[in-house]
Amino acid sequence: MTQGSQGDGGRKGRGPRSSPGPTLSPSVDLDRNLPLEHPLRLFLAEHALMRRLADELDEYCSRLARNRGNRIENLAKIRGLALELQSASRAHHRREEEALFGQLRARGVHGPPDVLETEHDDFDQLEADLVRLAAELQLAPQADPTALFQAASSLIALSRSHIHRENEVLFPMVLELFTRDGIWDEVQRVSDTIPSSTSEDES
Ligand SMILES: [Fe+2]
Ligand SMILES: [Fe+2]
Repeated sequence: MTQGSQGDGGRKGRGPRSSPGPTLSPSVDLDRNLPLEHPLRLFLAEHALMRRLADELDEYCSRLARNRGNRIENLAKIRGLALELQSASRAHHRREEEALFGQLRARGVHGPPDVLETEHDDFDQLEADLVRLAAELQLAPQADPTALFQAASSLIALSRSHIHRENEVLFPMVLELFTRDGIWDEVQRVSDTIPSSTSEDES
């Protein structure tokens, strides 16, 4: 968002106008302004973990594609990362669906949670495919890895776009809508019933 020129009248002769400064994204604002104990912080920390795992997956698929390093070790690493991402995202998606999406729908907001929940199903499918394909290649390391690269590439792209939309659009929307007394206590109560793969220190 750019800062407009409203209110500039009469500035002439008063010295240099101050720079509007860098534009911040909603997620940067969230990270700076949310209280340390706010329930959304765990959601943000889980996104950071999932994004890191997707980046590592990207790196090891690239190593495998370019024959960098040991093929067996790269395949083992890819399978391990796929399993970690699967575990982290299952818990995280359950937290979103049970603690946030129901509250959104109760306020008449259906489109975003419906789309995001469909994408959670896509995560499940791609993660299962990737785990299976990596295990198969571990047993036959010289087999064609094309299907594995396709599944990994789709999962990495989905992770990045899904998390970006939630950080930049969903979470700011939730903060704007969840204003009723006690609602964040309820989000926290539901969230506490779901174990997380991360500590909130993940960044
Ligand atoms: Fe999500
Ligand atoms: Fe998410």
